[in-house]
Amino acid sequence: MIKILGIVGSPRAGGNTEILVNETLKAAAEEGANTELLRLCDKEIKPCDGCRACRKTRECWINDDFRPVFDKMVESDGIIIASPVYFSSATPQVKALIDRAGYLSIARGRVFENKVGGALVVARRAGQNFTFAELLFFFLHQGMIVPGSSYWNVAFGREPGEVLKDGEGIETARNFGKKMVWVIKRLKGLG
Ligand SMILES: Cc1cc2nc3c(=O)[nH]c(=O)nc-3n(C[C@H](O)[C@H](O)[C@H](O)COP(=O)(O)O)c2cc1C
Repeated sequence: MIKILGIVGSPRAGGNTEILVNETLKAAAEEGANTELLRLCDKEIKPCDGCRACRKTRECWINDDFRPVFDKMVESDGIIIASPVYFSSATPQVKALIDRAGYLSIARGRVFENKVGGALVVARRAGQNFTFAELLFFFLHQGMIVPGSSYWNVAFGREPGEVLKDGEGIETARNFGKKMVWVIKRLKGLG
């Protein structure tokens, strides 16, 4: 079974980012994937403190909700990280996750290598491309495989639900979900 995890990096539950992740996961499920949506706003993930203990112990010793999120990422074939744009960047919640997950992955021998991954980004007006690139750097650094879509995975919206009016943004997210499953099937020899 193909497992795809969609991580919502907005501090606002039920907002545009969550809607966009939901659309992506629905499209992936239509192609046969087992999907899970995970909200960072329900979790406490503190920033990396740079102690580098993980390099020796292969564990992150900060006491918060990071570990179960990391474990779910490791168990998944596909990982989506989605963020609203906050001052032309990903949210601090997303940044804390990628810093710690990226460092711990390396400490454990690059556990995300050859998984499939990708980003989704929502903003009111500007900063999508920058934030999209910011998140892609994580996947590419980790040796992951990033599928394309029918456009870059960016969408517009301010108040919760507005993103649904961005038809092309929704379609791009859905196409990305399908492409993710297409790639994973071939990597696993299922298609
Ligand atoms: C602190 C803060 C900073 C923001 N910065 C930007 C920005 O740089 N560019 C932009 O277009 N929208 C910006 N926005 C708007 C959000 O990206 C937009 O409302 C988005 O839909 C929120 O996603 P959500 O509903 O998932 O929380 C900002 C919103 C907040 C709260």
